[in-house]
Amino acid sequence: MNLLTLKDVDSFYGKAHVLHGVSLSVAKGERVAILGRNGVGKTTVVNSFLGIARIRNGMIDLNGQRPAHIRHFSAAKAGIAVVPQGRRIVPTLTVLENLELGAAVDRKGPWNVEMVFDLFPILRERRSQLGTSMSGGQQQMLAIGRALMSNPDLLVLDEPSEGLAPVIVDELGDLCINLGNQGTSILLIEQNFGLVHKVAERYYVLSKGMVIEEGTMAGLSIESLKKHVAV
Ligand SMILES: Nc1ncnc2c1ncn2[C@@H]1O[C@H](COP(=O)(O)OP(=O)(O)OP(=O)(O)O)[C@@H](O)[C@H]1O
Ligand SMILES: [Mg+2]
Repeated sequence: MNLLTLKDVDSFYGKAHVLHGVSLSVAKGERVAILGRNGVGKTTVVNSFLGIARIRNGMIDLNGQRPAHIRHFSAAKAGIAVVPQGRRIVPTLTVLENLELGAAVDRKGPWNVEMVFDLFPILRERRSQLGTSMSGGQQQMLAIGRALMSNPDLLVLDEPSEGLAPVIVDELGDLCINLGNQGTSILLIEQNFGLVHKVAERYYVLSKGMVIEEGTMAGLSIESLKKHVAV
């Protein structure tokens, strides 16, 4: 069963036509990556199922639901949570308040504030300070914790390694694998090939708004990917 399917999707911002016939899917239990250089449309894939970019053609299926009009909460309600590019921690809210935002979508499941604090003990220590007063790595934990608060079946991470030290990126990879093993599927959008190689079982390469290559990690040609991603 697929948690997320895009089929022949064309997406626009106003008149700007960004995605051209994009088809991709993430099945239950999978860890999948989207690779591609700056500006090729990776975030627009996310914006398409968040209702931010407008879909003109094609079909998007969110965990078995195909809403006629995708709204901002459609994905979260269907069990798809996004850790957005740049993290989007709300600067006027504390760590705890930022986490609680993730629970605005009421889905049953194991995650709550205490479980997130057990996963990331530093967030418990810093619960009363402003979210944006923490380091980049800690803010990334907060963004992931906030997404987990909606008890997602699929966690989508948009360039989570951006601005993080290599050792933190490595921990992020371990976390994605652990979450995957615990039953949360992963869609990892990245230009960091090392992180993708560690986490993903399957990949898609985007270029100029199109899927130009896809396959399993086992069949991956590093040489061909070097053309499309930073290694
Ligand atoms: N809100 C917007 N309005 C108009 N054009 C946009 C908007 N957001 C992105 N674009 C354009 O759409 C194209 C794809 O952008 P997108 O953000 O999806 O790329 P990306 O692959 O995520 O890049 P990056 O790796 O830099 O995050 C770019 O040409 C960008 O300028
Ligand atoms: Mg992006």
